[in-house]
Amino acid sequence: MLEPGLTMMIVMEAPLQEVWDRMMRDLERGARDRNDALHTFAFSSLSLQGSPATRTVVLRAFEKQRRCIRFHSDLRSTKIQELKRDPRVSALFYHPTEKTQIRAEGMVVLHEDNAVADQLWEHLWVLGRRCYMAPRAPGSLAKAPSPNLPTEWMDRKPTLEASESGRANFCVIEVILSYMEWLELGFEGHTRAGYRWSEDGNQWKGCWLEP
Ligand SMILES: Cc1cc2nc3c(=O)[nH]c(=O)nc-3n(C[C@H](O)[C@H](O)[C@H](O)COP(=O)(O)O)c2cc1C
Repeated sequence: MLEPGLTMMIVMEAPLQEVWDRMMRDLERGARDRNDALHTFAFSSLSLQGSPATRTVVLRAFEKQRRCIRFHSDLRSTKIQELKRDPRVSALFYHPTEKTQIRAEGMVVLHEDNAVADQLWEHLWVLGRRCYMAPRAPGSLAKAPSPNLPTEWMDRKPTLEASESGRANFCVIEVILSYMEWLELGFEGHTRAGYRWSEDGNQWKGCWLEP
């Protein structure tokens, strides 16, 4: 978060635009390339007790025009109850070789029983679908270490027909971003910039920040 006194953003000048463009490209690559460091990120919500709750998720899409990052989840997982109670979230990406960090904040839109979730479910391959066939809710108590997979499909791919049982547990989480921050570490000094979505101007406004 920016300090309250720093929330007034300057108009996007060319170097700020360059950093922005790089951040957009990096996130697009992260979503596309499963070997990229930005393909996973730390996603934080507020727990039902009001404390921070963070977990790793896979970046399935980054749509810069819609200001949106997307991932998939199990509807029965704890985070869903948290997000239904409070949709404010943050996301944290780190690229260790490029030494760049991206922090993002936004509001969640949850897709359960709708066309968006249907369409993305259709594109999931059967082994991806198998996670959603888990017989018990993620996070529920287990008597012993448990893979929580259907016994029948534990060691093989489910058939397409059998995989359909996972649809009821599948959901899509989109985060509509309102703040993004870039930090790049460098020997000659770090670079840090923050960008906030302005509802007034329907545009991102950026400013430099002290690293
Ligand atoms: C590399 C990696 C990728 C993961 N990707 C996802 C994901 O895309 N969606 C998801 O719901 N959980 C994913 N998980 C599991 C979560 O980190 C977390 O354990 C799970 O979602 C339960 O979180 P919750 O109890 O806070 O709901 C991933 C875990 C790892 C280690």
